Amino acid sequence: MNFIGSHILSVTQFDRAAIDRVFEVADRMSPYANRQKVTRVLEGCILGNMFFEPSTRTRVSFGCAFNLLGGEVRETTEIKTSALAKGESFYDTARVLSGYSDVIVMRHRIEGSVDEFASASRVPVLNGGDGSNEHPSQALLDLYTIKKELAGHGKSIDGLRIALIGDLRNGRAVHSLCRLLGLYQDVHFTLISPPELSLGPEYIAGLQAAGHEVVRSEKMHAGISHADILYVTRTQEERFPSQAEADRYKGLFRLNQSIYTEYCEPNTVIMHPLPRDSRDNANELDNDLNENPNLAIFRQTDNGVLIRMALFALILDVADQVDDTARDVNWYTAKRF
Ligand code: NCD
Repeated sequence: MNFIGSHILSVTQFDRAAIDRVFEVADRMSPYANRQKVTRVLEGCILGNMFFEPSTRTRVSFGCAFNLLGGEVRETTEIKTSALAKGESFYDTARVLSGYSDVIVMRHRIEGSVDEFASASRVPVLNGGDGSNEHPSQALLDLYTIKKELAGHGKSIDGLRIALIGDLRNGRAVHSLCRLLGLYQDVHFTLISPPELSLGPEYIAGLQAAGHEVVRSEKMHAGISHADILYVTRTQEERFPSQAEADRYKGLFRLNQSIYTEYCEPNTVIMHPLPRDSRDNANELDNDLNENPNLAIFRQTDNGVLIRMALFALILDVADQVDDTARDVNWYTAKRF
């Protein structure tokens, strides 16, 4: 895979060598993300950060990653304040905004919208999530987290046993992660969801064709008992025809410390792309897990900065220049990682 100047629209662009390259550059970003060193390698470079759907960590961590490389971030966050609300096409918006930025990140509720935008853009576009379709940078940071967590337990991604729980039909993070995991060997997938929210048959067929074992279940307790990783997800209420319809599926699967202690193996790692829905009728991942050392959700969010820095560095072809302008930080830094 040639990263330089490329759009990142789908994880189907990646093979294992490309993933390893991203992870190797991400590892090298740690002193910058950890505020030990400063680099100016992207000084003068502009990111157009365009989020037309709600976002906290994806939007801020893309922006933060760009800032940490020395670049500047321009934010567009609402359709109603952009010309899309006046009927402007993705084509025109992309032609215009790509004249103002060196690289663009975009999130939009319509599947395929980011591809359409990218086809008219004069600069690289990264998919920050297009409807229920894909979320490539989330899947890369999830896989990077899985790799690191497993390494701590002497395991690798090949042979992984993962249980994915919740709204697997609508979760774009799930879709992209399953596709990436499909590139590895002998992954055992347990898919825990109500039948209406099961993972799309095209994803399951792809995993089975690649030789992976896929088991579907509607029962969480049995499904989580032999897993290295639990990947818990939120009911994607914004994808349902009505709130009442979404509410029917909330609270069906709730993981808390007592269930974890009773059913999981001692080192099972708990992940979630976040946000977790902490309202009483949902609460798929209870706060009583917060002190559990195997809860990796905030390691995931920290890793997101490293992965997004790596993607920018590779696409903008500065991965091997990052250290050239490095200096030590000169302010008080709290320990983050
Ligand atoms: C996910 C998303 O937006 O798809 N969030 C994120 O980017 N970390 C998952 C979700 O919203 O449930």
